[in-house]
Amino acid sequence: MNMLEELRKLPKAELHLHIEGTLEPELLFTLAKRNNILLPYKDIDELKDKYHFHDLQSFLDIYYNGTNVLITKQDFYDLTFAYLAKAKQDGIRHVEIFFDPQSHVSRGIEFKDVIEGISEALEQGKKEFGISYFIIMSFLRHLSQENALEVLEMALPYKDKIKAVGLDSSELGNPPSKFVELFKKCKENNFLTVAHAGEEGPASYIWEALNLLEIERIDHGIRCTEDPELLKTIIQKNIPLTVCPLSNIKLKVYQEMKEHNVKKLFDLGVKVTINSDDPAYFGGYLLENYIQCHNELGFTYKDMCDISKNSIEASFLSSADKLKLIKEIDSLNQKTIV
Ligand code: HPA
Ligand code: ZN
Repeated sequence: MNMLEELRKLPKAELHLHIEGTLEPELLFTLAKRNNILLPYKDIDELKDKYHFHDLQSFLDIYYNGTNVLITKQDFYDLTFAYLAKAKQDGIRHVEIFFDPQSHVSRGIEFKDVIEGISEALEQGKKEFGISYFIIMSFLRHLSQENALEVLEMALPYKDKIKAVGLDSSELGNPPSKFVELFKKCKENNFLTVAHAGEEGPASYIWEALNLLEIERIDHGIRCTEDPELLKTIIQKNIPLTVCPLSNIKLKVYQEMKEHNVKKLFDLGVKVTINSDDPAYFGGYLLENYIQCHNELGFTYKDMCDISKNSIEASFLSSADKLKLIKEIDSLNQKTIV
């Protein structure tokens, strides 16, 4: 059995992906040239040399710098379409992608250009590659709630293009409790809600995301193992975690893959999904995350079928759409056993 090819064939959903985190160095240079932006790096190798991170913040500094080359609607389209071509190769059938509007409107970019560039590429990807999608608008937690509320106002005319809202950026010192009013307003506007919690932040941030923001899924959530009561609640309530193994290694949450707790969470019955977060910076797209989990953490092929099923079940797809994909996974699993 060629495991990489079997994992590629599995219908998978990517539920934790920052579209700005798919900006490959080559495209970054192309866009800088197109937009007459002078980069502080002489070539791609010098840029790639910066991709050594010691924590979340050291990554975010480089990541936000990268977004400065995204100016026009076409730039957002090209960024998104380039990701979808990679997603297709990895056997992804459905994506729920984050975008960070505050990183762009704060630079004078029109909200309209950002959302239209991204959503037109996703529509084209749906036609050309058969990849369904939802968009998640993510708020930057290092900024104020007032700033997020202003951006929410800008987003309301484009409400039909946005399925859910999220919370990302520097976690420590910016707990979910800072954004209770924002999330309440988002729910009033019928957005579904998710939040990054328990990546670098403590288990108490995960409690806050669940109890104060009433989110549907936790992004990362790996520090839930530090609080037995929390772990029990996550299992009982079947709250999905969108775990990003390669991200956690690159940002030194764990020193190496073998230390990662995602297999332990899976064995305990947590609904874990595997995702790529910011693949242009973290050394691999979704399939690479899947194969490394198999190679380094002892996930069997059957386990990986369950992981891909979790990704479908934890998505915001309709029950009918979920069922179709789950049946496909079941039949692949059956065939491989025979
Ligand atoms: N965590 C928080 N914010 C982010 C991340 C992440 O992994 N990626 C992009 N923004
Ligand atoms: Zn993330």
